[in-house]
Amino acid sequence: MITPPRGPFAVGDQVQLTDPKGRKHRLVLSPGKSFHTHRGALAHDDLIGKPEGSLVTSADGTPYLAFRPLLADYALAMERGAAVVYPKDAAQIVGLADIFPGAHVVEAGAGSGALSCWLLRAVGESGRLTSFERRPDFAEIAAGNVQRYFGGLHPAWRLVVGELDQAGITDADRVVLDMLSPWDYVPAAAAMLRPGGVLCCYVATTTQLARTVTAAREHGSFAEPAAWETLQRGWHVDGLAVRPEHRMVGHTGFLVTARRLADGVVAPPRRRRPSKGAEAAAAAAAAAAAPHTAGAADAAAGRRHPAGDDAAGTGGIAGAGRGE
Ligand SMILES: C[S@@+](CC[C@H](N)C(=O)[O-])C[C@H]1O[C@@H](n2cnc3c(N)ncnc32)[C@H](O)[C@@H]1O
Repeated sequence: MITPPRGPFAVGDQVQLTDPKGRKHRLVLSPGKSFHTHRGALAHDDLIGKPEGSLVTSADGTPYLAFRPLLADYALAMERGAAVVYPKDAAQIVGLADIFPGAHVVEAGAGSGALSCWLLRAVGESGRLTSFERRPDFAEIAAGNVQRYFGGLHPAWRLVVGELDQAGITDADRVVLDMLSPWDYVPAAAAMLRPGGVLCCYVATTTQLARTVTAAREHGSFAEPAAWETLQRGWHVDGLAVRPEHRMVGHTGFLVTARRLADGVVAPPRRRRPSKGAEAAAAAAAAAAAPHTAGAADAAAGRRHPAGDDAAGTGGIAGAGRGE
């Protein structure tokens, strides 16, 4: 059974040392070896056999706390080919794309394998993760990172070196896309997913977000997509000095999820209050088609027609600019 190592530190374990300033150092335990810091050497043998959470001291007397790295630590410190999914987003993907033990998940691209580790942990040995990666060099890095994390081959993992395609898959519970153009793969995802399955896309920019949501809507096989981002702000808590940290993990990416409809089902149209921007864009398109009409000229100039406001029922400011 694949479970993260527990119990006293053993030869071959990864250990994360934290110094008094909070700086982290990583080592793999090997008998007779020393770990060198600018504060003197530290013998691996001092750690082997000790429980996690022990304190070890370097030659100059600096104390280091020793733990095995958590997956969030591992994913940020491991070798990188492509940029990895940040832990805050991986947690959202596992939770809100509803990755469950035993699920069949398809992922592209595997990149450095960070998200693959999170997904494999979530599906477990009874599940399946099929990861596509089109760059052989990145696939090699992903394979190494995943194997190092699990201490060997994970029985639920299949890494396919190549472009994402349906590859005969028709029973996926979840499809997770972290790539430049997920909108190009919405049809393939729809073909792979079971009814009720979840498509989850992680994109970095608003333009990618808009194209992805539009592609999912226009494809017709998905219920209304949800889109969001998370900002993670740490807090400094020290006596009466309790305030947000000055630095935060702000923008990393946006997430989009959409549920696969049953075959042949057409989702009832969503009633949205037309937003200023959407109205202007639609009318500008109309203006391009029929430039001689008054309303179209207004729209092309970015003005909103009063009747349109009433019809939209936005009530002025409250509905403006919200895009829904
Ligand atoms: C941002 S990285 C993924 C990082 C990965 N999720 C992680 O956490 O380590 C995007 C990857 O998608 C791969 N990719 C892009 N388009 C692809 C496609 N159509 N099929 C397979 N892989 C693709 C790229 O080569 C790149 O390695």
